[in-house]
Amino acid sequence: MLKKEKLIKKTEDFVKKVFLEDYTGHDWWHTHRVRVLAKKIAISESADLFIVDMAALLHDVGDYKFFGGDEEAGVLFVKKWLSSLKVTKELVDKILTVISNISYKNTLLESSNREKQNSPNFPSKEFMAVCDADRLDAIGAIGIARAFTYGGFYKRQIYNPKIKPMKNITQEEYKKTDAPSINHFYDKLLRIKEMMHTKLGKKIAKKRHRFLNLYLKEFYKEWKGKL
Ligand code: ADP
Ligand code: NI
Repeated sequence: MLKKEKLIKKTEDFVKKVFLEDYTGHDWWHTHRVRVLAKKIAISESADLFIVDMAALLHDVGDYKFFGGDEEAGVLFVKKWLSSLKVTKELVDKILTVISNISYKNTLLESSNREKQNSPNFPSKEFMAVCDADRLDAIGAIGIARAFTYGGFYKRQIYNPKIKPMKNITQEEYKKTDAPSINHFYDKLLRIKEMMHTKLGKKIAKKRHRFLNLYLKEFYKEWKGKL
């Protein structure tokens, strides 16, 4: 196996290439931000920084959306990359445990399906660091920018007062919704604060959550033409 720094550099170049043409808010810079924040959280949790770095780098390249909804194919793609690097099986397992459990929609699974997440390494400190960092990038000022970028890319409206957000959206509904982007605040963004795993994650989420609410308040005010 190559030195850890070399593995990280090679993976960085690989991921940059994968995301060269993504305009849905899932670009290289999202990965970059997740990586930076995940490592900060990892330090505060004494998690393994190499696993966190590799998992943060690879957490979205196997996203089910890029594989026509096939999650297995996404994980396989990452597995192939790691085996091309000749990373030990133990490390591969730890990295895959992080990325295969990270998707937001998987948290919408019925509790009876939760045993799927019964890998021996789950939830690892490394998972908690990367997962919190990924979720945090969906809220706050950047999260708002990403939501409207995503919505615009998929030709969604910004807001439609006639289309109310769904209460308790299910995994299936979440996957196929074409609701206006503001609804996504209720389907996902405003729920993130309660989904943090780490102390530092919670602290950052609280601040970013406040900003979401401030933004929504201002948004509705302007929508009604209030002065
Ligand atoms: P998931 O974790 O469910 O796979 P992603 O993390 O892939 O979702 O989403 C990428 C970015 O796009 C995030 O910032 C997310 O909030 C945003 N996004 C996802 N779905 C929508 C949607 N229906 N409307 C607006 N933004 C969305
Ligand atoms: Ni991500």
